[in-house]
Amino acid sequence: MPIDHRKRLGAHYTPAALAGFLAGRVRRVLPATDGPIRVLDPACGDGELLAAVAAHWPDAELVGFDLDADAVATAKARLPHAELTQADFTEATPGPGSFDLVITNPPYVRTQVLGGAAAARLAARYGLRGRIDLTHPFVAVVPELLRPGGVLGLLCSNRFLTTRAGANVRALLGKQLAVREVFDLGDTRLFEAAVLPAIVIAVKGEQAEARYASAYQVDQEAPEGDLYAALTADEDRVIRVGARTFAVSTGTLVRGTPEQPWRLTTPARERRHADVRSRTWRSLGELAKIRVGIKTTADPVFISEDWDGLPPEHSPEAQLLRPLLTHHDVRAWLPPGPPRARVLYPYLDLPTRAVVDLKDHPRAAAYLESHRARLESRGYLTAAGREWFEIWVPQRPALWREPKIVFPDISPEPRFTVDRSGAVVNGDCYWISVPELGGDELAHLVLGIANSTFGARFYDEVCGNRLYAGRRRWITQYVGLLPLPDPVTPAAQEVIRVARELTTTGDLAALPLLERAVRSAFGEVE
Ligand SMILES: C[S@@+](CC[C@H](N)C(=O)[O-])C[C@H]1O[C@@H](n2cnc3c(N)ncnc32)[C@H](O)[C@@H]1O
Repeated sequence: MPIDHRKRLGAHYTPAALAGFLAGRVRRVLPATDGPIRVLDPACGDGELLAAVAAHWPDAELVGFDLDADAVATAKARLPHAELTQADFTEATPGPGSFDLVITNPPYVRTQVLGGAAAARLAARYGLRGRIDLTHPFVAVVPELLRPGGVLGLLCSNRFLTTRAGANVRALLGKQLAVREVFDLGDTRLFEAAVLPAIVIAVKGEQAEARYASAYQVDQEAPEGDLYAALTADEDRVIRVGARTFAVSTGTLVRGTPEQPWRLTTPARERRHADVRSRTWRSLGELAKIRVGIKTTADPVFISEDWDGLPPEHSPEAQLLRPLLTHHDVRAWLPPGPPRARVLYPYLDLPTRAVVDLKDHPRAAAYLESHRARLESRGYLTAAGREWFEIWVPQRPALWREPKIVFPDISPEPRFTVDRSGAVVNGDCYWISVPELGGDELAHLVLGIANSTFGARFYDEVCGNRLYAGRRRWITQYVGLLPLPDPVTPAAQEVIRVARELTTTGDLAALPLLERAVRSAFGEVE
């Protein structure tokens, strides 16, 4: 299928093994019925999921819809007894309450591709808020379609588990459905799609404890194993599958309000978190604001490593060109070296945003003028009453001068450091002003905890979700939960001392001392 077409339809077909796994998990919770079960796949594609159901329930009545005529023709050839219709499911009305099972890998199409009007129509019809993708309407109708006791087997992007935008789906899966099992398939590539997949098994019935399993790639030696078996095992396993190794964790699902992410827990984890809480003085988010770096929304115009290569009459005045820290410059501990890039930052060095007068900077004015069409195309700036040559998120210019903790938004390992150079921070990093935090001692305490193995494990357990190949996305909402011990205690003072040593010498031989000091601050070692 051509890529554009596939993107519009959100068509990534389920591989047979994964479809079989999903149908098998459904079977565990769907009670036996007298007659044949009635099954719906509202976006059936070439019929893989319906075929997997037929393998378990040969006499099942299969109903499918899909927008794509070719896919429906293929599915018909494969499942001659199924009732398959080429139609837009969001416009269809199959019999309410008539299905024992809805099994689906709904199209994952984001609002940009869907178009604003279609998204608005779906939001109004299904009562959805925030950013919509097609997963939402497909899940929203499920409670109405299932009979009491009926089951939903859902394969979708794992993003809904933890993102703010996922609150829609998390709410839907809590209203009239009771989640029984969640599988976060992480970066296992059990399913070749642009998104990382998850499976949810839910029942239209009583709420009960739900099992949660997740699998993510790790970098360590392990015996060969079967990923599907590990995902359903009672204990955590680390297994090698082909050339890659996965850590498979199992536990139960913790969910609060729909705004809160879903995460995995175990009794041992809960006990450990309670211990950590009892030794927490403040969380990082209670002490200071974590800000994202600047977003110019026209990087090629504002950011360059080669300003000196411009003709002199177009070369912006030096005082407007500020060193810019990007994720390339930021490492754990040692302060960043001089950044390669500089940003044309058109603001006065004042506590609040005040745009420079271009008349005072004729060469910057000439340079910006030469990019005027591109800059003016950012209509949202002028609509917000701002100048056409501004950057979108300018921050508080005077705060750049002060020391700040900086960390990249995506990185496998924690990379927290303190910058004292006065550089501006790019939007691929976050930063915390050290004076706002409360000073240098606290900054080193934060670095010590955040860069430690303890800190990374804590982060993983509260965030619960990684990107691929072990990469973490350092989401402010979770970074803000980082626990800090009381800085006056001897254990915290030791963390601060070793963190200072690491930030001045960069000598990683001190790391075991740091790890020990952090664990001792949280009562994990004497
Ligand atoms: C992720 S694929 C899944 C296909 C199949 N169920 C499977 O698991 O292999 C999503 C399917 O949704 C179909 N689709 C997209 N928009 C649709 C709509 N509005 N109504 C029905 N089907 C739609 C696409 O054509 C595609 O076949």
